[in-house]
Amino acid sequence: MPQLRIITTTQEIMLTVPAGANLRQVLLDATLSPYTILTRRANCGGRGICATCGVWIDADEPAPEHWHDKLAAQFGYPRLSCQITIQDDMTVRLVQDKWIWGSRDAARRWQSG
Ligand code: FES
Repeated sequence: MPQLRIITTTQEIMLTVPAGANLRQVLLDATLSPYTILTRRANCGGRGICATCGVWIDADEPAPEHWHDKLAAQFGYPRLSCQITIQDDMTVRLVQDKWIWGSRDAARRWQSG
């Protein structure tokens, strides 16, 4: 089963999760919400529309599959946790400096191949 390393400003947590688990749901189940106080209730519920569930993937980043997550990855915005299926080990960092979506980090642009 994949090992998920989750980094927040105050802690680092290791979770073992079933392959095929949804990243957003794993985070919510672990009370490590990807949302802010403003978006906790005002979000699309994991449909890949609002982009408020973004997280940084620090290691073992999976290729984006959903159109909105592809754009986020391509331009260096946080990845949509609701659109990531966990298949392998991964390191996730919660976005601490966001009110709604989080800032762009051009250094994190997805490089395919
Ligand atoms: S919850 Fe809306 S895009 Fe992920």
